Amino acid sequence: MENDGKIPSHVAIIMDGNGRWAKKRGMERVEGHRAGAVAVKNLVENLKGKGIRYLTLYAFSTENWKRSKEEVDALMELLCEFIDANLDLIVEKEIRLLVMGRMHGMPENVQKKLRNAIQATSKNKGETLIFALNYGGRAEIADAARQIAKDVLKGKVKSDDIDEALFSRYLYLPDVPDPDLLIRTSGELRLSNFLLWSLSYSEIYVTDILWPDFDIAELDKAIDDFQKRNRRYGGR
Ligand code: FPP
Repeated sequence: MENDGKIPSHVAIIMDGNGRWAKKRGMERVEGHRAGAVAVKNLVENLKGKGIRYLTLYAFSTENWKRSKEEVDALMELLCEFIDANLDLIVEKEIRLLVMGRMHGMPENVQKKLRNAIQATSKNKGETLIFALNYGGRAEIADAARQIAKDVLKGKVKSDDIDEALFSRYLYLPDVPDPDLLIRTSGELRLSNFLLWSLSYSEIYVTDILWPDFDIAELDKAIDDFQKRNRRYGGR
């Protein structure tokens, strides 16, 4: 299966380097996250017409709770501010917002804001923007396995019928195709528990650019690189 210069339909991004961006400027880590939120807004503003159908952003992992209360609170606050400041823009751009992760573990006020934004954008026919929040790849697989086990006990699923296709239907967003391209900023060569099931055949692009400096030109570079890849999915 050749790539044929195609645009990746689903791009997933590990937005890393906010802390280092701030440190380089003698600023607090929170200021790095604030600049990171501006980078997210700029992508949202310029996504239209690129051909990308799904953009998944790793905004808060199940491991991020280990950070200081101050930083966690600031990230939750920034997320709320982002929705408040940009919901109109998201609607205007016809973007549909979705979230993936253990939503019930998020603060109630954040859940409410997200539910409202998801509802307000649910009919939009443009790109789908997905925030991975309180998300862990292993948690997603464990949650799917638990639900399948319940459905087996209820007689809704036969254990012999459990295969990759059935398992995929129990993921957080079963209707979203696997990412074609994974981008990680700030140079780290790790998956950090992101989309472990769905990234199986994704192309990986790592850039040294820190997340707050990642803009549409950097996204174009990643797409150019993707277009040079020859995706074989394990075949020849
Ligand atoms: C990693 O940088 C980034 C995060 C843990 C969170 C990402 C959050 C944002 C981009 C801002 C808010 C998001 C939205 C959607 C409004 P890091 O702190 O691990 O950086 P470091 O490795 O340099 O310390």
